[in-house]
Amino acid sequence: MLNSKIGGIGYYVPERIVTNEELSKLMDTTDEWIVERTGIKERRYAVKHEESSTTMAVHASKRAIENAGITEKDVDFIIFATLSPDYYFPGCGVLLQREMGMNGIGALDIRNQCSGFIYALSIADQFVKTGMYKNILVVGSEFHSSNLDFSTRGRNVTVIFGDGAGAAIIQPTEEEGKGILTTHLHADGEYAEHLAYFNPGGHGGVFLKDTELYPDYGDEPEYGGMLVTHEMIDKGQTFPHMNGRYVFKFAVEKFPEVIREALAATDYEVKDIDMLIPHQANLRISQMIQLNLGLDSDKVFNNIEKYGNTTAASIPIALCEAVEAGKVKDGDLVCLAAFGSGFTWGSCLIRW
Ligand code: COA
Repeated sequence: MLNSKIGGIGYYVPERIVTNEELSKLMDTTDEWIVERTGIKERRYAVKHEESSTTMAVHASKRAIENAGITEKDVDFIIFATLSPDYYFPGCGVLLQREMGMNGIGALDIRNQCSGFIYALSIADQFVKTGMYKNILVVGSEFHSSNLDFSTRGRNVTVIFGDGAGAAIIQPTEEEGKGILTTHLHADGEYAEHLAYFNPGGHGGVFLKDTELYPDYGDEPEYGGMLVTHEMIDKGQTFPHMNGRYVFKFAVEKFPEVIREALAATDYEVKDIDMLIPHQANLRISQMIQLNLGLDSDKVFNNIEKYGNTTAASIPIALCEAVEAGKVKDGDLVCLAAFGSGFTWGSCLIRW
């Protein structure tokens, strides 16, 4: 069977830099609090009415395609991971396809939030290995700032997230021992409501009976049967909800676990990793993973201080920056790992 490889990568971040200082003018927070708890100093925000998850993905995809030395015509499948799609449906995959003039090829949307890029890579890997496709465009793109709560009520979530896009071309490789060596995907829906965006949704409140779990949604949650109601908006129930401590606790456990799983599957050890690129959830989480694995700090790539958490886009943006900075070189053993809403988590080991 063929191995697949990342044949090209690209990323895009919006020009507008939003500092912690700027956020502290909108809500009760401080630069010190945000830096101490998350490591984030600034993030990028896309321009409303001009940019979207799809338009950012177009920029990143063009760069990845060019970097792979192919053209749009060579792309034979699209996998698009995002939690902030342009439309509730259809997904961003078809919009990207249209905007890039790649009409006719298949386009799949992935809804696995922070683990979206790893899930997408794993799917692309299977398609390439079986010989079904030869140039799969895998994208992670997020427009978080389009719907965050900029009042003090939403500060625990809002300060963390930023906008951006990353893309990769997945192709077959004939080089022995190179490319994507293994991928591992996990989920535990038991914790779905601990990091979620309930409305718009069609759930009608069926899973959300225990209001004590969702204090930020008020005493009388309005989870109607409709996607969004006036009451939901009035009560501030149309923003993401996160139980931060809970997420933190699981993240620091599941990241090392799934990284070790990838190493065990390929008979490598932690010391063999040349570069670990974790999903940029929180600098404190990355530091705890590094400590748990006993890795040197120069073997863990972090750029969260500049971009915040860009969810599905964070791994491809970080990978791209690491390659451009010469921190990932030909022949390196690169480990990608993610954890996030679902909960979902996963890893991918690549011989670059
Ligand atoms: N600025 C100032 N104070 C804030 C704040 C902000 N932006 N956000 C929350 N607080 C306050 C809380 O209101 C709370 O105040 P109280 O003690 O008066 O009630 C206090 O800080 C502690 O809140 P808590 O949520 O317990 O803080 P924490 O130490 O858990 O840190 C996170 C919050 C979000 C930084 C942390 O939980 C975290 O990083 N979790 C993981 C999040 C993550 O990675 N998400 C993405 C997953 S892919």
